Amino acid sequence: MRQQEYGVTVWFTGLSGAGKTTICQFVEKELRIQGYRVEVLDGDAVRQNLCKGLGFSKDDREENIRRIGFVAHLLTRNNVIVLVSAISPYREIREQVRQNIPYFIEVYVNASLEVCEQRDVKGLYKKARAGEIKHFTGIDDPYEIPLCPEVECKTNEESVVQSASKVLEKLEELQYCSVKNIRKFG
Ligand code: ADX
Repeated sequence: MRQQEYGVTVWFTGLSGAGKTTICQFVEKELRIQGYRVEVLDGDAVRQNLCKGLGFSKDDREENIRRIGFVAHLLTRNNVIVLVSAISPYREIREQVRQNIPYFIEVYVNASLEVCEQRDVKGLYKKARAGEIKHFTGIDDPYEIPLCPEVECKTNEESVVQSASKVLEKLEELQYCSVKNIRKFG
């Protein structure tokens, strides 16, 4: 295990199906190979545990993000690299979380609604279109795009490796990690 001087929260935001979890998993694996302490807080998993019972109203989503932010903060100050993957559709609460965590970078995982809907990995867009799920982000609920993300991954143009490399390179540029031989084979 490497001596890690700083922790950082890397916050992945974007529509459902944009590729947040996939990029996160790749970044996690690379960092672990390099010996870093990493934790992932993924919206779907967090909602089974820490945030069980919360729904998708604006208030509940904000509460979800606040709790994730709280845990991310604790881990970050203990020198862990925290990878958060959550739609986190509201700009204001994202900014609040950023203000509370001294070492923070935002990654906008950008894929158009059309692309996410076409992928429809979990079949939820279809249900949302059919009216079986209400308040679905992008369909009948808002997503406020980040204005100044440190990294933007355009997942309909880039491979997973290319997107993950952008994140790793930013972490390296800001001196949160030193990833030897980032596998730039994207
Ligand atoms: S957030 O808006 O509060 O940040 P979070 O990332 O935790 O959302 O959870 C999103 C996941 O919940 C989606 O990937 C999807 O699997 C599921 N989900 C269920 N209902 C909804 C909905 N109405 N809007 C968005 N995602 C939903």
